[in-house]
Amino acid sequence: MKSIVITGANSGIGFETTKFLIEKGYRVFGSVRREEEGKALAATLGPLYLPMVFDVRDEAAVSNAAELVRRVLDGENLAGLINNAAVSVAGPVCHQSLEDVRLQLDTNLLGPFIVTKAFAPLLGRKTAQSEHPGRVINIGSFAGRIGLPFASAYCASKHGLEGFTESLRREMYLYGVPVVIVAPGLTKTPVWGKFDGQGLTRFDTTPFGRPYRKALSLLTKTPRKHGMESRRVADAIWHALTVKNPRRRYTLAQTYWEQVAVRALPRGLMDRAVVRWLRLSGNSA
Ligand SMILES: NC(=O)c1ccc[n+]([C@@H]2O[C@H](COP(=O)([O-])OP(=O)(O)OC[C@H]3O[C@@H](n4cnc5c(N)ncnc54)[C@H](OP(=O)(O)O)[C@@H]3O)[C@@H](O)[C@H]2O)c1
Repeated sequence: MKSIVITGANSGIGFETTKFLIEKGYRVFGSVRREEEGKALAATLGPLYLPMVFDVRDEAAVSNAAELVRRVLDGENLAGLINNAAVSVAGPVCHQSLEDVRLQLDTNLLGPFIVTKAFAPLLGRKTAQSEHPGRVINIGSFAGRIGLPFASAYCASKHGLEGFTESLRREMYLYGVPVVIVAPGLTKTPVWGKFDGQGLTRFDTTPFGRPYRKALSLLTKTPRKHGMESRRVADAIWHALTVKNPRRRYTLAQTYWEQVAVRALPRGLMDRAVVRWLRLSGNSA
């Protein structure tokens, strides 16, 4: 039986991918942060789902989970490691708390380092006996290629993940382990509901109050209406996990603007469009 590890299995893209891989007959070790969440998922998904309880920032908890997975695998390889867990907290650089910035960098960038270090030894290596080592699939974002105002820490983490993925890919040639980034655009997941609790008006006492509200309300409404289904991301992950020669990068864009932005619209043009749209005037863009 093929087995994979995925972080953030209880929500959005992680949940959809877990469900999809179980339908395909994979055994999925999926991380959650609360034990009861793991039990509820196991009840929904059945015996092919095995919960791991950890926070991706907690090195000791992650390595304990890797040891448990190693014992269950009993000498088998993992077919894949999917670094999916992430958070997003919006705010202008000059006014966002460092706590919010650290949360995103620690979860979205340091988290994949910690998880990859712990689980990579279980992916196996290409030898005469084992022709099929597992793969690493990192979930990036179109925010790994462009900078969005009020999402600096998230964008920095996803740009960082691009570099991490490329470096890791080159290192893992030693073991014959492919390393892939799947980078979706706006996707319909519970993450957009999580912005509702962040408070649209919390930067109103700063010069960024209005533009922040405008950006955030558009950013949270658009994916709910026009975002792609998580299933499309799960399909790309499936492709990356199973084809003989996976692509290095899967760019999944749904809306017209994502396609334009991701295909490297000239930076100056994009600056002017964003400044005009959010009325961030008073500068030389
Ligand atoms: N939705 C989009 O439009 C979109 C677009 C591009 C890329 N992505 C990327 O896709 C991935 C999944 O996002 P999503 O939209 O499915 O988000 P989501 O529904 O909010 O799910 C995020 C998952 O990450 C887990 N998580 C958060 N912090 C964690 C931590 N410190 N340790 C362990 N797990 C943690 C969450 O667990 P809890 O439930 O315990 O918080 C949850 O399971 C992320 O990498 C995101 O950046 C999403």
